[in-house]
Amino acid sequence: MSNVGLLLRLLQLQRKQKNMCNLTLCVLLILTCSCSSLSLCPAHCSCESTVVNCVSQNLSSIPQPLPENITTLNLSGNNIRILNNESFPKPLEHLTHLYVSGSQMEQLDSMVFKNLPSLRLLDLSNNRISEFNVEALPQDNKIEVLNLSTSLYNHSYMGVFANLFKRSLSKVSHLDLSNNDLVFLPEGIFTDLSDLTVLDLRNNTLVSFGNDTFVNPTLKELDLRDNALKVLSNVTLAELSLIPDLRVSLAGNPWRCDCDIEDMLIWLERHDFVVDKLNLTCSFPKELKNAPLLHLEQPHLPCWSNNGDVDRALEPSYVFLGMVLALIGVIFLLVLYLNRKGIKKWIYNIRDACRDHMEGYHYRYEINSDPRLANLSLNSDV
Ligand SMILES: *[C@@H]1O[C@H](CO)[C@@H](O)[C@H](O)[C@H]1NC(C)=O
Ligand SMILES: *[C@@H]1O[C@H](CO)[C@@H](O)[C@H](O)[C@H]1NC(C)=O
Ligand SMILES: *[C@@H]1O[C@H](CO)[C@@H](O)[C@H](O)[C@H]1NC(C)=O
Ligand SMILES: *[C@@H]1O[C@H](CO)[C@@H](O)[C@H](O)[C@H]1NC(C)=O
Ligand SMILES: *[C@@H]1O[C@H](CO)[C@@H](O)[C@H](O)[C@H]1NC(C)=O
Ligand SMILES: *[C@@H]1O[C@H](CO)[C@@H](O)[C@H](O)[C@H]1NC(C)=O
Ligand SMILES: *[C@@H]1O[C@H](CO)[C@@H](O)[C@H](O)[C@H]1NC(C)=O
Ligand SMILES: *[C@@H]1O[C@H](CO)[C@@H](O)[C@H](O)[C@H]1NC(C)=O
Ligand SMILES: *[C@@H]1O[C@H](CO)[C@@H](O)[C@H](O)[C@H]1NC(C)=O
Ligand SMILES: *[C@@H]1O[C@H](CO)[C@@H](O)[C@H](O)[C@H]1NC(C)=O
Repeated sequence: MSNVGLLLRLLQLQRKQKNMCNLTLCVLLILTCSCSSLSLCPAHCSCESTVVNCVSQNLSSIPQPLPENITTLNLSGNNIRILNNESFPKPLEHLTHLYVSGSQMEQLDSMVFKNLPSLRLLDLSNNRISEFNVEALPQDNKIEVLNLSTSLYNHSYMGVFANLFKRSLSKVSHLDLSNNDLVFLPEGIFTDLSDLTVLDLRNNTLVSFGNDTFVNPTLKELDLRDNALKVLSNVTLAELSLIPDLRVSLAGNPWRCDCDIEDMLIWLERHDFVVDKLNLTCSFPKELKNAPLLHLEQPHLPCWSNNGDVDRALEPSYVFLGMVLALIGVIFLLVLYLNRKGIKKWIYNIRDACRDHMEGYHYRYEINSDPRLANLSLNSDV
């Protein structure tokens, strides 16, 4: 109101003194405008409507104060190592999207997000989180999209996230866990995510899945590309088959094409929900490398775990072992031959030593067999 009043007074003034230049007015207007917007937008950030952008400013904490009606906050590319209960000191009822990607994030303490009751999307990708308090998120949070791509310090931290998923992420529908070097998934990790729709596990090192891993009937997209899967177990195949409307991506895994994969091949032929099934290729055995899985002659795949075939598989290594042993033998004989003089001397020495020994023995034997001496020794013993 005071701004408007000022403006009117200025206009009246200008009308009265026509030769006074418009410049004063303009400067004043610009000043008032920039002043009011400065009071709303924190330093190092740009604000557009309710979207606040503080990207790549080397900020070490959340800029304060944030506008009350903020809906989106982009803090990507900063240096915010820790988030604690003072990071968002005032309630931001409308904040739904928070991006803290690539910000060297290591630690999230308890109650970090207690003042963000409407948070729907949380992007923590490209960090190195090694501490995530299970109480960081309020239990009634509404997070639907959680991005943890390339964000774990190391894969052994996944257990903590499993607890977090169980405790306070029941609304999550889109979960990105790609690029985290995950080797195994804790048991029942996704069991309580009853709205899970998109699950991205691409580019980890997953080898197999425990029973009850994929039991989410809501799942629509599952990305398992670029892992270390050699075969999918019967239990996993059965679990995936039970999910209606699922689309699975499986390319980029080192499939092992022996008789153990036959159940999976039948499953692949029968179902269409593996969207890239034409792109699956064998990595093992060597003869079948890069052969498409769907072109394999199923009943004739070798069984490396069967005894007869194990022998066949081991044949080359037996031949190699034999050759090595023969070589060692030849070298041994050669050494003997080159040392023949020394060996001769050695044998003579031994023979002499034996002879001395035998003579000594012979002598003792004669003494022992002399009955007089035997009696003597018996008496002396008594
Ligand atoms: C946000 O609040 C500020 C005042 O705090 C107001 O000037 C601005 O118009 C509001 N923006 C929206 C989109 O409501
Ligand atoms: C970023 O901030 C840290 C301290 O918070 C400082 O040591 C570093 O030099 C800054 N980097 C740049 C590129 O400004
Ligand atoms: C946040 O900022 C980064 C860097 O400019 C940008 O790549 C990203 O798209 C932004 N995210 C959103 C949701 O605006
Ligand atoms: C924030 O956490 C610290 C310890 O982690 C605690 O002492 C403090 O009381 C907490 N503050 C609020 C407002 O909860
Ligand atoms: C997660 O973040 C990564 C890298 O910032 C991005 O490529 C990916 O699309 C994001 N995932 C989701 C679900 O937004
Ligand atoms: C993972 O990080 C923890 C500390 O958070 C450490 O004790 C452990 O050795 C690390 N594991 C690997 C495989 O690097
Ligand atoms: C796969 O993940 C590793 C870290 O686990 C990362 O270094 C690599 O760049 C990722 N590859 C792709 C194609 O994203
Ligand atoms: C998984 O299920 C299979 C078949 O139902 C069973 O034989 C196996 O023992 C189970 N494994 C575990 C770890 O529960
Ligand atoms: C896998 O399941 C199929 C039928 O669903 C069954 O015929 C086959 O014997 C099972 N394989 C193993 C290894 O249990
Ligand atoms: C299969 O691989 C080809 C070549 O790499 C690629 O262009 C195509 O998109 C892949 N198909 C699917 C369904 O991923």
